[in-house]
Amino acid sequence: MAKPIKITEVVLRDAHQSLLATRMTMDEMRPILAEMDKIPYFSVECWGGATFDSCIRFLNEDPWERLRIMRKEMPHQKLQMLFRGQNMLGYRPYADDVVEYFVQKSVANGIDVIRIFDALNDARNLQTAIRAANKEKAHVQGCISYTLSPVHNNEYYTNYAKTLEEMGANSICIKDMAGLLTPYACYDLVSRLKEAVSIPIDIHSHYTAGLASMSIMKGIEAGASIVDTAMSPLSIGTSHMPTESLVAALQGTEYDTGLDLNQLNVVRAHFAKLREKYIGSGQISPKSLSVDANTLLYQVPGGMFSNMLGQLKEAGKEDKLDEVLAEIPRVREDSGYPPLVTPTSQIVGTQAVFNVIMGERYKMVTKEFRGMIHGDYGKTPAPIDPEFSKKILGDDEPITCRFADTLEPELDKLKAEAAPYVKQEEDVLTYAMFPQVAPKFFEQRDRKEDPNGTHTADVVVTPV
Ligand code: CO
Repeated sequence: MAKPIKITEVVLRDAHQSLLATRMTMDEMRPILAEMDKIPYFSVECWGGATFDSCIRFLNEDPWERLRIMRKEMPHQKLQMLFRGQNMLGYRPYADDVVEYFVQKSVANGIDVIRIFDALNDARNLQTAIRAANKEKAHVQGCISYTLSPVHNNEYYTNYAKTLEEMGANSICIKDMAGLLTPYACYDLVSRLKEAVSIPIDIHSHYTAGLASMSIMKGIEAGASIVDTAMSPLSIGTSHMPTESLVAALQGTEYDTGLDLNQLNVVRAHFAKLREKYIGSGQISPKSLSVDANTLLYQVPGGMFSNMLGQLKEAGKEDKLDEVLAEIPRVREDSGYPPLVTPTSQIVGTQAVFNVIMGERYKMVTKEFRGMIHGDYGKTPAPIDPEFSKKILGDDEPITCRFADTLEPELDKLKAEAAPYVKQEEDVLTYAMFPQVAPKFFEQRDRKEDPNGTHTADVVVTPV
């Protein structure tokens, strides 16, 4: 019986987020979208994740306009976005009314598939987004943030997947952001998930440790039906397995994707030119294109590694990298084994850096790390030792409820704050997520749109 594998093409989002810090511009993408639209992908991931932040911080592009262009140029594709549950595309938890509004506007502007994840796999942080996406009739893909730890086993993952299915997910994604999934572990996990849930399973595995294509193959044999891949010029390394390779590997088998390698080649040629350009400009470093087997030992995703290295450089302590890498598993153990994905990757990484450069563990504790111990980001996978909790929080008691339940509705307040800048309803959401950067962005955008306005030099925005 034929079991054709469906493909989610990630070249317009995760591939460039992983290889070139999310800097692909709309002008670079637009010329090829009509050709991509001819390919019968399951979906094209093209929005969300870090693209939104990058658009307003670095590219001076309106992310909502980018989405509308994608919708117009790819009328036959399902457009997919990555959404960080209660944190939306920002870095803090938002009140439910803002999350609902964001989901509604994303679908209204063209999104069909919303992939929703929570860094701690706390289902309560997905519930509002799932409910809102169900209401807008979007396809909801619930994510397992995949990691390795003493508490993360197949039973844990299948229970979580069952919960997501019951909450209204239409498919389950195994999100292996650090590339830790090994082929036989993938086979076992997918087999167990197939027994536990009746919705399709998607594999999202980064190539970082060189394992992804093997793991994907075993996952397919175990019954996965959707696979994330990237067009070959922006594949491998910290990105994903190449689309064309998977199509060729499955051709003539029961898993045949039905995609045409000749048509893919038209798309490939466009991205091959972009790859040359990015390598020439230094936007893609050779390091991110190769396999880094260190990941298997330290379990640190690529983005987190470069962040920590930057922090150490700033402190003039680059020689402490090995100590920091050894400190990370200890910080994870202390904090209940969070998977390392935005924002927990930054929280754990920064705390590990502090623990090493201060010469004493937890002498200085970041606000975010404290928040994680307090329960603001959700329930940690393993319980936190009460003594450790007391050391970090003092007399402040950790919360056990869903953090968003402690928040008052905030949409009206944000609307009032954003009022001076708003040119379209969606602007309030841009402001909500990036209140420091958004005003500068709006000013630049509006100046660009009004050729009669006076033009001054571009504002230099410092990355944070
Ligand atoms: Co990814």
